[in-house]
Parts: sequence; structure tokens; C-alpha cells
Amino acid sequence: MAERRVVVTGASSGIGAATVRRFAELGWQTVAIARREDRLRALAAETGAHPIVCDVTDEAQVARMAAEVAETGGATGLVNNAGGALGTESVERALNEDWRRMFEVNVIGLRTVTAALLPVLRDGARAGLDADGAGWASILNLTSTAGHAAYPGGGGYNAAKYAAHAVTEVLRLELAGEPIRVMELAPGLVHTEEFTLNRLRGDAAAAAKPYEDVIPLAPEDVARVLVGAFEQPPHVNQDLIVIRPVAQSSVFHTHRGPLVPKAEA
Ligand SMILES: NC(=O)c1ccc[n+]([C@@H]2O[C@H](COP(=O)([O-])OP(=O)(O)OC[C@H]3O[C@@H](n4cnc5c(N)ncnc54)[C@H](OP(=O)(O)O)[C@@H]3O)[C@@H](O)[C@H]2O)c1
Repeated sequence: MAERRVVVTGASSGIGAATVRRFAELGWQTVAIARREDRLRALAAETGAHPIVCDVTDEAQVARMAAEVAETGGATGLVNNAGGALGTESVERALNEDWRRMFEVNVIGLRTVTAALLPVLRDGARAGLDADGAGWASILNLTSTAGHAAYPGGGGYNAAKYAAHAVTEVLRLELAGEPIRVMELAPGLVHTEEFTLNRLRGDAAAAAKPYEDVIPLAPEDVARVLVGAFEQPPHVNQDLIVIRPVAQSSVFHTHRGPLVPKAEA
């Protein structure tokens, strides 16, 4: 059985890929989950991750993924990171199909993966896989500041990430009494290569705009904080971690231009 092994969904790009790299740097074994096999293979070659191609919205694929995790060394950690946004239309003009897809991946996919891997995490905890011999496990769900504050055009993404936040809270209550911590990480503006491009349906010029004249978070920034939560002593549960760039003081306030100390307050 592996000593410290963590499953990361949505590992083929952005925050997920950076998270696998960070875990690997700190000596964790990793299982990298996504749909695009070529990207997973490249990440596996770089980090030693065990790649599993899996669409988290497909229950049969998730069941096979969980069986493969169990057969190849089990796990004591799960990062539910697969997710994303589609569209910025108003509630009035939104497409139900976009909302369905956002709910499928950000909410129902998270639930399906969690349910499939909970028995594996319990086995890992029972076997006392952690380096100090204690039998613990950890789950961390990537939500967003969009799961804590609504904004015009947030629509289905707000709704899906608020739901993912709620599911995380419910899960923590339901797992009370077990040695399994349930954490949530809610990032603000992160410059990943695909997130906004996918949200804006491939419009590269529009997708570049949110990151103009501002220092956003890099995926590596998020990964450092995320993996830091797993590196805490196992009885320490960081229920909710919010991380934003200094230039973004709320979902409505992003300072563009240099950050300069004021002469006077
Ligand atoms: N970027 C931001 O500003 C930001 C801010 C707050 C929160 N977040 C959240 O952080 C997470 C990662 O975001 P990111 O910026 O790194 O996005 P990203 O670069 O677009 O990555 C999303 C990842 O999810 C995977 N994925 C999507 N649908 C999937 C499915 N059905 N099954 C399996 N994997 C799937 C994608 O891989 P495949 O396409 O290969 O399957 C990809 O690896 C998301 O949950 C996002 O909502 C992002």
C-alpha cells in the first residue's frame, strides 16, 4: 500500500495539474484523473503520477476509476477539482444545456467521485497509510469565490459552486465521527490557460481581458495552499480556505494597474 497517495480530478490542466506537481514535489504518490489521455500521459511522465482517463460525469467510468485506484495502491486523499464555467449570460438569457453541464461536472461529478472513493479512503485510513502511522484521510473540494458571492452573469456557475459548497458542508456533517477531514478551497481570480477560454466558448481575445493589468493567482499559488492543507497534522481541518490575489478584494473589486502604498491612509 502506498504511504501517501492522493487522487486529483481535473489534472490535465490548470490548478489540477499544478496540484499533482506540488504533491509529487513533496513526495506524495498521485493519481491524475481527466478525460484527455495525452495530457495525463505527459503529466505522468513528468511527475510519476498514475494516470486514469475518466469522465467524472459518467458513473460507470467513475466506478472503474475507483476500482483501479484501489487495485493500484489505494488512497488517503481526494481533491475534487474537475469543474468549470460555461457562459456569462444573464439568468434570463442563459442556456439550460450550459447549466446542466455545469451542474453535471461541478456538483454531480463531485458527488459521484466522492461516493465511489469514500470506501477506498476508509480502507486507506484503516490501514494507517500516513507517514506517522495514523489512520486518517482527507477530501478537499475546489469551489470558488463564485460559490460564496453572486455576480451578474454568474448564473449557472454561481449556482453550481454554491451547490458544491453546500455539498461540502453536508459531507463534513455526515462524516463526523470518522477520521476523514473535509475541506473546501475557494479561489478568486486564477490565470489558467483554459478556464476563461472555455467559459467564453473559445473567444481568446475576450478570455485575455480579466487578466489584463492585474497580477492574478497562478495555478501554482493555489496548488501550494491546497497541498499545504493536506500537509497539516491530520486532525487539523481547514474547513474553508479562501484565496485571492491581493489586487482582488472581492468578486466586484479588482484593482487594475500597479499596487502602490498610499502616501496617507
Ligand atoms: N481559474 C479560475 O479563475 C478558478 C477560480 C476559482 C475556482 N476555479 C475552479 O477550479 C477548478 C479548476 O479550474 P482551472 O482554472 O484549473 O480549470 P481548467 O484549466 O479548465 O481545468 C479544468 C480541469 O477539469 C477537467 N474536467 C473538466 N470536465 C471534466 C470531466 N467531465 N471529467 C473529468 N475531468 C474534467 C479538465 O480536463 P479534461 O478536459 O481533460 O477532462 C481540466 O483538467 C474548477 O473546479 C474551477 O471551477 C477556477
